[in-house]
Amino acid sequence: MTIAITGATGQLGRLAIAALKSRGKAPIALARDPAKAADLGVQARAFDYAAPETLAPALAGVDTLVLISSNDVGQRMPHHLNVIAAAKDAGVSRLLYTSILRADTSPMLLAADHKATESAIRASGLTYTFLRNGWYTENHTAGLAGAIAAGALIGSAGAGRFSAAARSDFAEAIAVTAATSGHDNASYELAGDTAYTYADLAAEVSRLTGKAIPYNDLPPATYAGILASFGFPEGFAHVLADSDVQAGHGALYDDSRTLSRLIGRPTTPMAATVAAALA
Ligand SMILES: NC(=O)c1ccc[n+]([C@@H]2O[C@H](COP(=O)([O-])OP(=O)(O)OC[C@H]3O[C@@H](n4cnc5c(N)ncnc54)[C@H](OP(=O)(O)O)[C@@H]3O)[C@@H](O)[C@H]2O)c1
Repeated sequence: MTIAITGATGQLGRLAIAALKSRGKAPIALARDPAKAADLGVQARAFDYAAPETLAPALAGVDTLVLISSNDVGQRMPHHLNVIAAAKDAGVSRLLYTSILRADTSPMLLAADHKATESAIRASGLTYTFLRNGWYTENHTAGLAGAIAAGALIGSAGAGRFSAAARSDFAEAIAVTAATSGHDNASYELAGDTAYTYADLAAEVSRLTGKAIPYNDLPPATYAGILASFGFPEGFAHVLADSDVQAGHGALYDDSRTLSRLIGRPTTPMAATVAAALA
């Protein structure tokens, strides 16, 4: 059974390749630039979502295709539709797709493309598994150095709880579902075992640094403006601020523990990801 993974050069893809290798599998890394995948130690094939005619040939012999959602937010739909068509043409047996928590009902702006992609996959008739990923804890830890330097964490989620998990937990879920059977036409809501608020996160950062780092809740327009000043494209800054607002209403909270059941171990606690980020 041959498994191939798109986005293999990305942060999640790299971890998923490693998780599959540790399960004794030899996945194929599908990469826009195969040279960037050379260090993965697996076969790499050229695979650019924006070059549709090249995609089906690159899937020759692939049984299980993992489509890691494109990070090109304005181009996601054409990218994903190209991959779905190619998977159909190439006759792959299963398509696994990394979606978003409760994609079908989520009010988050970010969820629209995931919902539409899930619909397109269903309409294609391909056997699918939807890995509906919640928030990566790393979304919150990536900017910690700047927050510590500035003396505060900022966001627009109020007291909303994030059932976040580490990328490595979501990568393990990819490996489990790609390497085992029993996931046909299933949708898994994947999230961390425990949830935290921004205030909890700020308290943990304060504890580890020995500095008082509070959480400052901001109006979404103010937060989006600050994100834009950090270099995020304006539209994406708005989408991120919206994600926080919706998280404030529970959009990124989940207590099903589906992820830990799937991977057979507890998810990585927020404190561990914070400690790793500050090490
Ligand atoms: N759940 C969450 O909290 C969360 C957070 C962030 C992102 N996401 C989503 O999850 C995905 C994986 O996360 P990540 O952290 O691994 O993202 P990442 O590190 O940005 O990786 C994105 C991957 O997509 C590839 N890619 C982009 N455009 C492509 C194209 N035209 N053709 C082929 N490949 C292309 C990139 O290839 P190159 O190496 O060539 O650039 C890279 O391998 C993201 O793409 C995004 O959709 C989810």
